[in-house]
Amino acid sequence: MADLITITVDGRDVQVPAKIQLIEALRTYAKVDTPAFCYHPDLSVAGNCRICLVEVAGPRGFAFGIACHMQTAPGLSVKTQISSERVKWARRGVMESLLVNHPLDCPICDKAGECTLQEHYMGQGQHESRLSDDAGKNYKGGADHRFTDAKGVDRGGKKIDLGKTIILDQERCIVCSRCVRFMDEVAKDSQLAIAGRGDHAYITTFPGKPLAHAYDLNVTDVCPVGALTGKHFRFQQRVWTLKSVESIDPSDALGANLTIEYNNGRVWRIMPRRNVAVNKSWIANSTRLLYQKLAVDRLTDARVGGKDVDLDTGVKVARIAISGAKRIALVASGHGTIEDNAALLALKDALGEKAEIFGGSWLPVGKADGIALSGDPVANRAGLKLLGIPENLDALIERAGEFDTLLVFNHDLWAADAAKAAKLEAIPARIVLASWLDATVAKATVAVGIRAWAEVRGAMVNCQERVQLTQACPVLPNPALEPAWRVLAGLAGATWSAEIDAFKAAQARAPRLAGLTYRAIGPLGAVLPQPALAAAGA
Ligand code: SF4
Ligand code: FES
Repeated sequence: MADLITITVDGRDVQVPAKIQLIEALRTYAKVDTPAFCYHPDLSVAGNCRICLVEVAGPRGFAFGIACHMQTAPGLSVKTQISSERVKWARRGVMESLLVNHPLDCPICDKAGECTLQEHYMGQGQHESRLSDDAGKNYKGGADHRFTDAKGVDRGGKKIDLGKTIILDQERCIVCSRCVRFMDEVAKDSQLAIAGRGDHAYITTFPGKPLAHAYDLNVTDVCPVGALTGKHFRFQQRVWTLKSVESIDPSDALGANLTIEYNNGRVWRIMPRRNVAVNKSWIANSTRLLYQKLAVDRLTDARVGGKDVDLDTGVKVARIAISGAKRIALVASGHGTIEDNAALLALKDALGEKAEIFGGSWLPVGKADGIALSGDPVANRAGLKLLGIPENLDALIERAGEFDTLLVFNHDLWAADAAKAAKLEAIPARIVLASWLDATVAKATVAVGIRAWAEVRGAMVNCQERVQLTQACPVLPNPALEPAWRVLAGLAGATWSAEIDAFKAAQARAPRLAGLTYRAIGPLGAVLPQPALAAAGA
C-alpha cells in the first residue's frame, strides 16, 4: 500500500494516502459520509457547488474549505458535520440556495429515488422554506428554453430535445458542470456548455447543433439531478422498483462493468458500474442499449427441419445426430462464457477422435476508443485462448467436406460472413444452439434455444487478461431455457449441476485459472497470474 500519512478528522487521527482528494479520504478512510454535487471521481475537480464544505485548520484557526478540491497532507486537521455546527449551517445554506428555484416535480422526475438533491436535502438540508408564495419560483433557462404554461406564465426549460438520445429539463439543472466536463474530458468532443451568468446560467448545446456522441448517455448518469434524462428510460419505471445484477459488456473484449436492472420479468435499463481498471464509470450507448434486443426475436423453443418443437425434443434430435455422426466439427464461441466452452471441450473428449474443435471469429476488429470499448467484438476471445482453443475458422471452411455434422453455439457465423459460412452448408447435419432467431439458426437442421448473455452466470476473460463474471438476471422468455454449458454438458454426458462444475473443468485445462473461485473473482474481476507464476502455483 502507498505510504500513509496522518490527518485529524473531528479530533480523530486517521491514516490516509498523501495527496488524494480530501473528500475521498473522508469517505473511504475516515468513513465520514461527505456530500457532493459537482465532484465526480472520474472527472476533473470543478469545485462550484460548495456542498462538500468542511472546516480546515489554518494560520487563522478553522475556516471553510471544499473537500473535493483540497488534497491530503501531513498534519491536516478537518472538522466535518460530525463536530462542527458551522459545517451543518453552511451546507443547509447551500441546499437552500440550490432548491429555491428548483421545481417540485419529484413525483414525475425519472431521477427521483437516486437524485443527490433529494439525498442531500435529507442529509444536509431539512431547512424550513423561506420562499414567499407571492414571489413563487423563478425557473431557469435562456429565452429559447422558455414556454408559456396553461396559466399564461412564462416558464423555463421543460423537455428540451437535445438530440437523438437525451432530453433536458433545464429548470432542474443545478449547473454543476459535470455533463460539460464529461463531454470535454472523456468524450473529448465539447458539445455542451454553460451559457449565461449567475442565476441565469444554463446548460445548452452550441447553436443549431444537437448533442450527438457514441457515449452521450453517460451525461444522464453524471447529472446529479433529473436535468438530463435518456429518452429510452424516461417514464418507464420508478427506479426504486428495479432490482439489479452485476455483469459485464458481452459485446466487446474489454467487458465494461455494468449492472442490469430489471423488474416484472423484464430488463429496463443497463447502467455503468465503476471499475477504475476497466471502464472507470462509463459505458458506450451501444452497450447501454443492448437490453432492448433481449426480448426480441428470441429462439424460445427448438426447431427441427424448420418446424417448431419443444426444447426436450430438440435436444433429443441433436443427441441422435451427434451419436450418429462420423466426423463432427465443434465450433467454440468467444461470445460464450468459459463454462460454455469448457462444456464444448468436454463434449469433444466424450466424442473422441471423430470430433474436432474450431475457434475464432469472422467479425472485424476495430480500434480501442480509450473509454469503454476495445474494438474487438469477441468478448471472451482471451478466454478461448486460455482454454487452448485455436483461431482456425478458415480451416473449417477449407475442410468442410470432411465433416458430416457441425455444432455451433452462441455464434452467428452466417451474420459474421455469409459468403464464408455458405461453404458450411456442405455439412449435412447442422446443430445450432442459439438465443435469437438469427441467420445461423435459419441454416440449422436442428436449432435449440439457450439462455442469452444477461440470463447466465459465468466467467469471461477480457483483453487485459482480467477474469470477470456475468450474473444471471431472472428474465427468461421461457423458463425451460438452459445455459449453453448445461445443454453441451448434457450432450457430453457430464454430471455437472452448476456453473462452478463447468468452471472447475475449465480450471483443469487452464492452469492460469487455478485457485480462482467466483468469490475471489468478485464484482471487479481478477487479473490472471502470469504463466510462470501460475506454473509455480503462486
Ligand atoms: S445538466 Fe445536470 S450534469 Fe449538467 S450542469 Fe446541470 S445538473 Fe450538472
Ligand atoms: S462537491 Fe465540492 S464543491 Fe461541489
